[in-house]
Amino acid sequence: MPQQIKRLISVFAIFIALFLIMRQVLKPESFGELGHYRAKAIQENTMKELHYAGSDSCAKCHEDILKDKSLGFHKQLKCEVCHGPGLKHALFIDKVNTAQIPDSLVLYKPIQRKDCAICHQINAARIKIQFDTINTSMIHQINVLDHNLMDLDTKVEYKCIDCHNPHQP
Ligand code: HEC
Ligand code: HEC
Ligand code: HEC
Ligand code: HEC
Repeated sequence: MPQQIKRLISVFAIFIALFLIMRQVLKPESFGELGHYRAKAIQENTMKELHYAGSDSCAKCHEDILKDKSLGFHKQLKCEVCHGPGLKHALFIDKVNTAQIPDSLVLYKPIQRKDCAICHQINAARIKIQFDTINTSMIHQINVLDHNLMDLDTKVEYKCIDCHNPHQP
């Protein structure tokens, strides 16, 4: 065998040995137990703190709103899409049974124009369905900077919820 090949082989052998050692050292503990991933990842994920309670759990105390919402255009939206994560809010009031909620547990109310704009502002990247009044599976877009912006006499800026009920727009 030519000498240069022998040298190459030894270089490769060193690299392969290094690779095997490093693999042993760096491999996460539970890797491979259940296939080609870390088995502990499941456990770690179940241990993560929960933030969202789900709309069903809001029904216990806000049944009227849930019912209103189910009759309108916003029926597909979950409560926490607009009000933010509500698990602590729901658990606390359920446990302490009071209407006196600490400030930190009062949920956000999206009363500003920009809150509704998140979904309704015209966006070139979204499909426009101005002429399609039948298909309600896509969001109707308006120009938030223009659509009923203010009272023309008083120049007071309207909020969206001055005209639209957010739970039944
Ligand atoms: C165990 C009862 C209970 C549950 C469950 C519950 N809430 Fe409440 N919620 C209350 C009470 C009590 C108040 C304070 C009184 C009020 O303003 O109606 C309140 C107030 C609110 C407010 C108004 C805050 C404000 O500034 O006026 C919002 C928004 C709200 N809840 C949303 C939710 C959402 C969303 C859920 C589900 C994730 C939920 N709640 C689950 C009892 C509950
Ligand atoms: C499109 C966004 C949106 C969704 C979805 C939504 N809300 Fe609201 N919610 C609002 C806004 C905006 C207000 C403030 C209304 C106001 O101040 O007049 C509000 C107010 C409230 C309040 C305070 C009392 C009231 O009637 O003003 C409660 C309680 C509440 N929402 C609960 C819920 C629950 C429960 C759900 C799910 C069934 C829900 N919301 C879904 C936007 C939303
Ligand atoms: C998370 C996304 C989202 C947010 C935030 C949101 N909406 Fe909607 N909205 C929808 C969807 C989805 C529909 C149903 C499809 C449709 O009709 O455009 C809808 C429908 C509507 C409609 C009926 C449109 C029609 O078909 O005539 C009005 C009005 C409306 N929303 C007003 C509001 C207002 C006011 C706010 C702010 C308080 C708001 N929306 C916040 C998603 C959203
Ligand atoms: C002064 C009252 C008023 C205010 C304020 C207002 N709207 Fe409207 N909105 C209406 C009326 C009336 C209609 C139905 C006629 C039309 O399409 O203009 C409408 C229609 C809509 C539609 C359906 C458009 C479509 O294509 O069918 C959406 C979505 C909407 N509004 C969202 C909003 C949002 C978001 C805001 C706040 C940025 C807002 N509106 C503020 C009165 C208002």
